[in-house]
Amino acid sequence: MSEATYEIVRKLARGGMAHVLLARRYGPRGIEQLVAIKRPNPEIADDEEHLAAFADEARLLARLSHPHVVSVIALEEDRGVPLLVMEHVDGVTLSELVRRAKSSATGHLPKNEALALALAIAEALAYVHSHLDELEEPLRVVHRDVTPHNVMLSFDGAVKLIDFGIASAASHEVVTRTGVVKGTPGFMAPEQLRGDAVDHRADIFSFGVSLHLLLTGTLPWPTDDDVPAADAAPPRPSDRVGGIEPALDDLVARCLDPSPASRPESMTEVRDVLASVLAASGAHPTMGALSAMVRALVPDHHRPEPPTMLQRAPSKARGRRLPPWAGRYALPALALVAIGVVAYAAGRLLAAM
Ligand SMILES: Nc1ncnc2c1ncn2[C@@H]1O[C@H](COP(=O)(O)OP(=O)(O)OP(=O)(O)O)[C@@H](O)[C@H]1O
Ligand SMILES: [Mg+2]
Repeated sequence: MSEATYEIVRKLARGGMAHVLLARRYGPRGIEQLVAIKRPNPEIADDEEHLAAFADEARLLARLSHPHVVSVIALEEDRGVPLLVMEHVDGVTLSELVRRAKSSATGHLPKNEALALALAIAEALAYVHSHLDELEEPLRVVHRDVTPHNVMLSFDGAVKLIDFGIASAASHEVVTRTGVVKGTPGFMAPEQLRGDAVDHRADIFSFGVSLHLLLTGTLPWPTDDDVPAADAAPPRPSDRVGGIEPALDDLVARCLDPSPASRPESMTEVRDVLASVLAASGAHPTMGALSAMVRALVPDHHRPEPPTMLQRAPSKARGRRLPPWAGRYALPALALVAIGVVAYAAGRLLAAM
C-alpha cells in the first residue's frame, strides 16, 4: 500500500472547532482527487478531549454510506493532529442558499426545490437514525446539529448532510458527553437546550425548524437566538408564504412540538409525508433542477479547477502546480526526446560495427 500525498489549494471555511481546507489528494499511478480536509483549530490541537471528539466524528462517518451523507475518504494524522479527509462537495451550504434567495424576487427558495432539499435531508436522517452496527444492533445515531448550515448542495445538484462533530451514538464509536449543551440556538429541541439526554426526536425538531426556514426563508421564531417558547404555537409556514399545503403546515407543527412524544415517530414517517406532498403536487424536482437553482442563486462562486488527467509523481507534485501548457506539450516533447535517444543509440551501434 502506498501513502497518499496532499496539496492544499485553499481554505474553504473556518468553524468553531475546526477549519476545512480544499486539497488535491495524489495516490499511485496518477490518481488525483479533490478532497475537503477538516482539521482542528490550533486552539484545540493540544486538547485531548476535543481531539478525541474529532476522531469520533471520523469513526462514525466512516461507518455510514448514503448518497445524502458526506463520505469519508481517510483519517490522516499530521504531527499528532487528526485530519478528516472527506469527499469535496463543490457547492454551498443551505444557509448560504437561503440567504441568497432572500434577495431574490420572492425572498425564499422555490417551493418544489425546497421540498426536494428537505426530502433529501429526511432520507439522510432516516438512514442515520436507523443504522445498524455489524452485530445488527441499532447504532442510535443522533446528529444533534441539524441545520441548513450543516447541509450542502453541490453545483451538480447533490445534497449532503455534513458535520457529525457533536453526533452521539449508542456505541464506543462515539462517547456521548452529557450535561454539555452543544448545538445551534434557534434549531435545538427544548430537551436538548435543557441539556437532557436526547434521542432521534431532537433531530426531528431541528428538521422541522429547517423545513420552515427552507419554505419561508425565515425561522419560526422572532430572532435567531430565540429559544422556542414551550407554550406558544409557532407560526405556520402558510402564515408567511402562499401555496403551502395544509399537510406541510401540519408536518412542521408536529415536528416542532415541545414534547418529543408528540412529534412524528421517525424521520421515515417525515420522509413519507414529504414524498406524498411532492407526488400530489405532480412535481418531481430532479438533481438537474437543484443544480440550475444553485447556479442561478450563486453565479459568482469560485469553483476549483477539476483534477487534471496528466500523470504526476505524488512526491514531486506536493505543493507545486504545473503550468497550464505542460499538458499540451508534454507528450510531443517526450516523443522528441525518445526519438533522439533511439537515433543516438543507433548511431553508436552503427559506429561500433
Ligand atoms: N466535505 C465538504 N466539502 C466542502 N465543504 C465542506 C465540507 N465539509 C465542510 N465544508 C465547509 O466547511 C464548513 C464547516 O464544516 P463543519 O460544519 O463540518 O465544521 P464545524 O467546525 O462544525 O463548523 P461550524 O462551527 O461552522 O459548524 C461547512 O459549513 C462548509 O462550508
Ligand atoms: Mg458545522
